[in-house]
Amino acid sequence: MRKKIVAGNWKMNTLPAEGVELAKGVAAGRAEVCSCVNFIVCPPFTHLWQVVETLKGTDIAVGAQDCATEAKGAYTGEIAASMIAALGCKYVILGHSERRQYYGETSATLNRKMEQAYANSLTPIYCVGENLEEREAGRHFDVVKAQIEEVVFNLTAEQFADLVIAYEPVWAIGTGKTATAEQAQEIHAYIREVLRSKFGAAADECPILYGGSCKPSNAQEIFAKADVDGGLIGGAALKAEDFLAIGKGF
Ligand code: 13P
Repeated sequence: MRKKIVAGNWKMNTLPAEGVELAKGVAAGRAEVCSCVNFIVCPPFTHLWQVVETLKGTDIAVGAQDCATEAKGAYTGEIAASMIAALGCKYVILGHSERRQYYGETSATLNRKMEQAYANSLTPIYCVGENLEEREAGRHFDVVKAQIEEVVFNLTAEQFADLVIAYEPVWAIGTGKTATAEQAQEIHAYIREVLRSKFGAAADECPILYGGSCKPSNAQEIFAKADVDGGLIGGAALKAEDFLAIGKGF
């Protein structure tokens, strides 16, 4: 049985007090959702520690949205994986399309970030996904395959056993356009096949999340698909009620 996960990527939203309120709201309603669902929230760095404190004693995990390629030292403005882990975070999102697109993250960068995450016992939520042009040209399978081969294939079997993948088609992020449940299943199954070619049966244990305009009204249909193990949620994760309702989609 693969883990069912609903992760909220808050992106560059919420001030500390708002983030704490949001976390409290998620914690308050958590019991209404099956305990089989693993909730993760990923606030901005500035209030990671406050959210960790707020969620202490709950089963809601906290993750960061990125980490540095280096362990420590003269890298102004960067946040090391060790710093994130020291706060009590368990996860780190890596390779989000916004980081690939706006901050020039490449597979070479991401290989180093993945190493840092594992060296500090953080579970990476590794994001893959094609843009609209690539989808329209029918290249989405190749794009996603390359994003996996260039990074995930460098992991050891032990590291791979502690990985979450998020498939997020760029054309569906923040656009209100969702991939259909069939489109999600098709590419999730393909991702699993690619993973199986390298890691064998362990691929069947790897949670693959869907992300891109996922909301309470479409989560159920998408999560019902065999190879969709949950969601990485942007906009709808900013309202506790919606975030929790997505968890009820299983
Ligand atoms: P939206 O849910 O706002 O489309 O964002 C998805 C996303 O990028 C999560 O990482």
